Amino acid sequence: MSDRTNDQWQTVCQFDELTPEKFVEFRVHQKNPEPGAMPLTGFLFLDGREPRAFLNQCPHLGIELNWMPGRFMDADNLFIQCSTHGALFKPGTGECIAGPCQGDALPALDLRVEGGAIQVRLPE
Ligand code: FES
Repeated sequence: MSDRTNDQWQTVCQFDELTPEKFVEFRVHQKNPEPGAMPLTGFLFLDGREPRAFLNQCPHLGIELNWMPGRFMDADNLFIQCSTHGALFKPGTGECIAGPCQGDALPALDLRVEGGAIQVRLPE
């Protein structure tokens, strides 16, 4: 995990560290975290050739999606899956297409590449 920050952008990893089916988890830098709150985390991966990043926060209960490090996909490797109640999300948009939060979406993080590093824009 990395938490190198630059104002509103946080470096997660080098672009060439991303390989197909690899999920990079990171702790999101928060300026004023609520005392006692769980740390905010996110994950970054390649959707085809496009990098995507979402907060690791199921819209259903707000808990992390994965129960094992780096494991986010369903058994068919088609959708991101919440391990708690099985909600399925489109990797490209984060839209929930099945499960208790159907129609909702994972919070997406804006990305940019700076000097070969992938950075995410910190949420407000
Ligand atoms: S917490 Fe994710 S589907 Fe319930």
